[in-house]
Amino acid sequence: MKKVTYNHFGDESVLELVEQAVPSIENNQLLIRVKAVSINPLDWKVYGGEMKLMSGTRFPKSVGVDFSGIVEQAGSATTRFKVGEAVMGLLDVFKGGALADYIVVKETDIALKPASISFEQAAALPVTGLSALQIMDQLAGVRPKQEVLINGASGGIGVFAVQIAKKRGARVTAVVSTDAVTAATQWGADKVIDYTKQSINQLTQRFDVFIDLSTKLSLSEAKPLMKPKGAFVSTLPSPMTLLSSFVNNLISGKKHKILILKPTVEGFKALADLAEAGLQIELAKTYALSNVREAYKEARHQKRMGKSVIVLD
Ligand SMILES: NC(=O)c1ccc[n+]([C@@H]2O[C@H](COP(=O)([O-])OP(=O)(O)OC[C@H]3O[C@@H](n4cnc5c(N)ncnc54)[C@H](OP(=O)(O)O)[C@@H]3O)[C@@H](O)[C@H]2O)c1
Repeated sequence: MKKVTYNHFGDESVLELVEQAVPSIENNQLLIRVKAVSINPLDWKVYGGEMKLMSGTRFPKSVGVDFSGIVEQAGSATTRFKVGEAVMGLLDVFKGGALADYIVVKETDIALKPASISFEQAAALPVTGLSALQIMDQLAGVRPKQEVLINGASGGIGVFAVQIAKKRGARVTAVVSTDAVTAATQWGADKVIDYTKQSINQLTQRFDVFIDLSTKLSLSEAKPLMKPKGAFVSTLPSPMTLLSSFVNNLISGKKHKILILKPTVEGFKALADLAEAGLQIELAKTYALSNVREAYKEARHQKRMGKSVIVLD
């Protein structure tokens, strides 16, 4: 079978397509024939070596976190999935490995693919959909009538964050670049700001929840736009930001919450229900596995609305 691996940190040129034996499973595992894998910004942070404290420095390493596919074999101690069922799931974010014809997973790594969505759409859901749910429900606790600002609303997480915040009854201001202005209204945003034409610093409105998905803003930049008991959510945990948010949250009414994605079976269920109920899933572009380097290079350097997906044969 084919698998994408790399033997040292670097840019997309380190990614190699190699032939390997199909892995075998243990009693409590399943073998999945992978149909599609989505691209996440985390992938290039890991193969670029930015996350080596978490990923380790032993090679070869592999790429790809969220995937969709079909159950090919089910270990004798597994109970939740049958051979032939279509599933979606995610692997350990620092180890990856989904970019392969076959992968071995645990039952808790996967959920049934909603019948109403394609394999490509299903692969685009887990990391960003679960992140959006965790931000809305656990970190920000978004409630009806709250004012929510989403900075970076047309990216992987943002598309879902806008829709889920609306479902929670909030009023949403989406900050996007020009190409995504119309789409953001279709996802449900009440107000859309084109950040290439207007700086959010000029806003006079104050927000209950300020979500930064661009990773370009700090708590101190967000604070002037927050209500006195507002929450700022950012997505890049580092020892420094975790420590400074802890200190801030002891002394300030304006709280700083940092996303550390924790996938749960309940989260998967909630996500599948949202997809069945018509959650819009934006696919930016699909690629063949043989174009893996091009796929990552373009996703990293070009503006995209939603998710890019690599499709396997
Ligand atoms: N901590 C965790 O557990 C965790 C989990 C998942 C993701 N993440 C991180 O969360 C971040 C967001 O993830 P994602 O998948 O949504 O990334 P993404 O698809 O790259 O989206 C980022 C968005 O930011 C927008 N943006 C860029 N510059 C901007 C600016 N100056 N002002 C406003 N918006 C701007 C981009 O829009 P344009 O393209 O139009 O500029 C894009 O839509 C990533 O850094 C990812 O690594 C963390």
